[in-house]
Amino acid sequence: MSSRLVVLTGAGMSAESGLATFRGSDGLWEGHRIEEVASPEGWKRDPEKVLRFYNERRAQLLKAKPNAGHCALTSLEAHFDVRIITQNIDDLHERAGASCVLHLHGELRKAQSTQNPDWVCDIAGDTLSMGDRCPDGHQLRPNVVWFGEAVPRMQTAIQWVQAAHIMLIVGTSLVVYPAAGLVDCLPHTAHCFMIDPQLPAQRPIQCKDSYAYTGTAAQTLPKLAKRLIDEFA
Ligand code: OAD
Repeated sequence: MSSRLVVLTGAGMSAESGLATFRGSDGLWEGHRIEEVASPEGWKRDPEKVLRFYNERRAQLLKAKPNAGHCALTSLEAHFDVRIITQNIDDLHERAGASCVLHLHGELRKAQSTQNPDWVCDIAGDTLSMGDRCPDGHQLRPNVVWFGEAVPRMQTAIQWVQAAHIMLIVGTSLVVYPAAGLVDCLPHTAHCFMIDPQLPAQRPIQCKDSYAYTGTAAQTLPKLAKRLIDEFA
């Protein structure tokens, strides 16, 4: 049976594909305060602005391509039981061929009913507009978990981490909970590898051993994949 390798990815995973991280040097997400475009209050205040913002992100995503880091993770599937927990709403892991991806914070290319978050559909093309409705007649909104909302897939993510032999943490500042708390669910027997060009302030991770790589996802993951195959496959 192959070892269970669980990966937690954040915005840095897709930075080299041309998608901006959330907490850049200006503290803004593509020129906006995060709460303006990623909270129920922001939606109530100005839904058209929120739809426009995500429509722009979607159009940008359709032009982006997976990078060498996404591809390296997919290549590990030949050697490990790989499960990816991503905080990213892009679909670059899937487009790189990943077969097991859990989107903790939702998916940019999907919409959900404003009344029933379980009613979800694909968005054809890149645009969601006011007046686009679910079959029950309710306005559609982006299928994104906003600040203050529950994270419905969290329990599954916790179970995956609790069963991990190896964990990779790539391109996340580990400041947004509950996602950041996943590292505390690692078994003491697990091996942990972290990749980030500006490693977040290290807090102790309870596991067998942990290694930090100061580097980018696209540059570092292909090398780390080789190491993991040599040492653990
Ligand atoms: P952040 O923007 O907070 O952190 C991105 C991390 O990626 C930082 O630690 C960067 O140093 C690192 N980074 C930058 N370029 C990189 C590269 N080329 N390779 C590897 N790492 C790189 O993004 P997240 O931690 O993903 O939630 O943010 C978590 C959540 O906060 C997001 O999912 C989103 C946001 O608000 C919601 O929208 C609900």
